[in-house]
Amino acid sequence: MLWLKAFHVIAMVTWFAGLFYLPRLFVYHADAVDGISRERFKVMERRLFAIMTIGGAATVVFGIAMLAAAPSYLGMVWLKVKLAIVLLLLVYHFLCRSYMLDFAHDRNTRGSRWYRGFNEIPSLMLVAIVILAIVKPF
Ligand code: HEM
Repeated sequence: MLWLKAFHVIAMVTWFAGLFYLPRLFVYHADAVDGISRERFKVMERRLFAIMTIGGAATVVFGIAMLAAAPSYLGMVWLKVKLAIVLLLLVYHFLCRSYMLDFAHDRNTRGSRWYRGFNEIPSLMLVAIVILAIVKPF
């Protein structure tokens, strides 16, 4: 169980590195005007998205493995609330994918200010999930 938890947290850190940095790349990409910068951002975004997808998948796999090892967690309210936020996080992940594809095909229409706001969302979800998983307030 402790090994699963350790790898769950390692994978979660990998996932969040991408969830924090990919939208930050979108901020700079939206302002980039020259072709060389744009092409470089496209490569960086594609590679980062691949790594954060592995991190996200591993977080979910290790999380589910812990539930399989100790199904009594499923009766706890904090876990259900946490899983609801994880679902929102998955929606955010696939929104990132869709914006990355918009940039890849040079059809992004959103400005850097919009991406700055979008970039704040994962921090709020991280705070909520870590408090739920560690403090277990209910
Ligand atoms: C399907 C997704 C997930 C499942 C099924 C899941 C499930 C679990 C379970 C069963 C534990 C053990 C809790 C304990 O021993 O007290 C745990 C721990 C933890 N989870 Fe998740 N989790 C998921 C996603 C996430 C995500 C996305 C994050 C971060 C944003 C996260 C952060 C943590 C942390 C920090 C702990 C360690 C808590 C401690 O120190 O005891 N989990 N998770």
